[in-house]
Amino acid sequence: MKTLLKNGTLITASDTFQSDILIEDEKIARLGLNLEVDSDQRIDAAGKLILPGGVDPHVHLDLPMFNTVSSDDHYTGHKAAAFGGTTTAMDFIPLTPPPHPVGEGQRGEGDFQYSVDLWMKKAEKAAIDYSFHMNLTQFNDRIAKEIPSLRGMGIQTLKVFTAYNGRLRIDDGSIFRAMQIARDNGMLVMAHCENGDVIETLVGKALAAGHTSPEWHALTRPGWGAIDATLRVAGLAAESDASVYIVHMNMGGEVDMLKYARERGVKVMGETCLQYLFFTIDDLRRPDGAKWICSPPMRTEKDNARLWEGLRDGILQTVGTDHCPFFLDGTKPIIYEGREIAIAGKELGKDDFTKIPNGLPGIQDRLPVLWTQGVGTGKISANQFVELTSANPARIFGLYPRKGSLLVGADADIVIWDPQKKVSYGVSKSHQRTDYNLYEGWELKGYPEKVFLRGKLIVDGDEWKGKRGDGKFLKRGEGEIL
Ligand code: URP
Ligand code: ZN
Ligand code: ZN
Repeated sequence: MKTLLKNGTLITASDTFQSDILIEDEKIARLGLNLEVDSDQRIDAAGKLILPGGVDPHVHLDLPMFNTVSSDDHYTGHKAAAFGGTTTAMDFIPLTPPPHPVGEGQRGEGDFQYSVDLWMKKAEKAAIDYSFHMNLTQFNDRIAKEIPSLRGMGIQTLKVFTAYNGRLRIDDGSIFRAMQIARDNGMLVMAHCENGDVIETLVGKALAAGHTSPEWHALTRPGWGAIDATLRVAGLAAESDASVYIVHMNMGGEVDMLKYARERGVKVMGETCLQYLFFTIDDLRRPDGAKWICSPPMRTEKDNARLWEGLRDGILQTVGTDHCPFFLDGTKPIIYEGREIAIAGKELGKDDFTKIPNGLPGIQDRLPVLWTQGVGTGKISANQFVELTSANPARIFGLYPRKGSLLVGADADIVIWDPQKKVSYGVSKSHQRTDYNLYEGWELKGYPEKVFLRGKLIVDGDEWKGKRGDGKFLKRGEGEIL
């Protein structure tokens, strides 16, 4: 199958240039001006931009939390991603204990192979390409010994948490040992940075005082905790000489800490997520404030502004989403693909903010909102847009140039982007399987028109042409340190 894209303007992380593109089967086969080749399909992209498909480094699909589950699975979340121009997504595998311990494992101890197998099964319905990170939420000698086995499974990345005491957090000594193992095995440690001890103390006090509303989610997770944890993790990276990637950075002070560490040669990189560029604790004070509950929480306008600077100045390397949607009211069904569906969501915490599932939608919103608000306002260039949302995630996570590029030989994951298209955005435009959208009523300019996954047209305007099961698991190699 040959597809010829004519007359488009290609945007990569480093260049903007006119070129035709010949796609042959799953790959970009040729680039050049005035390409004339017999093809099965010819598309005129005059006036349009051609971007490499987005790579979202941080999503949570079908994730069990607080007696419910994130409401997008590996089909619905991937479909939404594709409508927003993203063709690769990476989600996190919870370290899960098998019903019966395997090998040297003890009852209740997570097992990597078991956990990966579970997630592979869930992802059989994938509609775009995907890979996984492993949550390292338990640590002992056996688990330490088995970390390198993840590489054979194509998983080069471990997420550690400095918060969620008694649930996901491991102590700093274990994080340090994990970093040493990662260093010795060409792996990358990803870190969730908040101060778990401070959070536990403040949550206890808030509940005892009868504070149950959503804003207390933010008030009990102070920004200084994110800053101190970021510096601590950067310090551990320096002391272990490991490569570290700090996820969902949300505080201006975290950007400062990252800058401090990077200027001193520490191999630490940073991701922010779309929501932290726009929203503040004031959004949690609205009657529908539960929509904005995620961890870490929304901060202040000053933090929004510093994160933008971090993106502009190359202190931060990526923009992800932390897509982890829940219904605002999971007692009321929505129609998804013609069928009613309701999944318990944020109403679970209507009387207690600690019971509101943490997370929000964003996988479809990321590229169109960032384009309008970032490129459209001149905060970042179109090339930086591609760098932050596609090329850099592909590089850091060992997928470049197969993903994140428009080079000959790369997977033909291609977005034909209409820079003039105006969209009144919101839940009616969204394929995210939830009952709200954080960008409701936002006027966007610039939107995906056609999206190809490995040469196959999966989104054509408003039409879904993708298929459950068409997404491929990507075994990743060693990534780059940017
Ligand atoms: O609230 C969030 N972000 N939920 C997902 C888990 C995490 O820490 O990334
Ligand atoms: Zn996290
Ligand atoms: Zn997350």
